[in-house]
Amino acid sequence: MIAITGASGNLGKATLFFLLKQANPSDIVAVVREPAKMNELSGNGIQIRQGDYEDAASMEKAFAGCDTIMQVSSAVYGEQADRQERNVVDAAVQSGVKRVVYVSTLNPGNGKHFRAAVTCGATESAIAEAGLQYSFFRNSMYMETIPLFVGNALADGKIFYPAGDGRISFASRIDIAEGLAGELLRKRSGNEIFHITGEEAAGFGRVAELLASERSLAGDYTDIPDEAFAEALVGEGMANEEIDFYISMANSIKAEEFSMVSNDLETLLGRKRKTLKDYIRGL
Ligand SMILES: NC(=O)c1ccc[n+]([C@@H]2O[C@H](COP(=O)([O-])OP(=O)(O)OC[C@H]3O[C@@H](n4cnc5c(N)ncnc54)[C@H](OP(=O)(O)O)[C@@H]3O)[C@@H](O)[C@H]2O)c1
Repeated sequence: MIAITGASGNLGKATLFFLLKQANPSDIVAVVREPAKMNELSGNGIQIRQGDYEDAASMEKAFAGCDTIMQVSSAVYGEQADRQERNVVDAAVQSGVKRVVYVSTLNPGNGKHFRAAVTCGATESAIAEAGLQYSFFRNSMYMETIPLFVGNALADGKIFYPAGDGRISFASRIDIAEGLAGELLRKRSGNEIFHITGEEAAGFGRVAELLASERSLAGDYTDIPDEAFAEALVGEGMANEEIDFYISMANSIKAEEFSMVSNDLETLLGRKRKTLKDYIRGL
């Protein structure tokens, strides 16, 4: 049996849909904090089990009888994220899971600007040290997050963000979900690390250019100071820890930690990936 964590989220739910095209529904377990969120899928024959990353015992129970799990990275920040992800790894070990397909980030590890890179690095190490078989999906940013980065630019074409000339190899979250489903069903004997990226690394200047060419908008990018960005986030009522997280993300982009381009996603899919240009045109 295959368990999917974060199954009520964007990536988890999309992966479930791809899995359902190829696998027996009774072999699929959707692990969610609130099972009621999965009512629309309950008629499909998949098992829906409750599990919270904060509660290792609930995750252990949810993984019972599963030999493979997809571990979706935590949705919180800092030490809480580190603890939650460790809970999932411990629960996998305790429940007898053999293989973990872990949703990581492009440049995991200590010494990186991005706070989540520290969490993902620690989780990758914990999985490997526990002797679990693994496939790590080191994901670049999802294309689908572009509207969050550019804010009002979808209306006026003007992007304000503190990333300098840093580039991102945006990948489609739907493509990634299809790649994850394929990997979960693939028989592997060893461990794999995939660098999951789009086919180009684009700075926000390039994103602005595409807003101009594909959507007839002004198409203008202004690199702003971190302080101005933080001030805007305070204005939106964001908590300090979350603001630090988003500043760490911008610093990480500026330092080119998200600019790697790899063909791994195309190889996994056996077809071309969605391009940035197509995504922006279809927004
Ligand atoms: N590469 C990128 O650009 C990018 C962007 C955003 C996020 N991410 C990372 O990738 C992950 C998946 O992305 P996504 O778009 O699918 O995010 P999402 O839509 O926010 O989904 C996150 C999932 O994690 C679940 N979750 C959160 N806290 C949990 C807990 N304490 N116990 C159990 N489940 C919990 C959520 O459940 P509920 O429905 O109960 O909240 C949801 O199913 C995110 O969690 C984040 O780590 C990456």
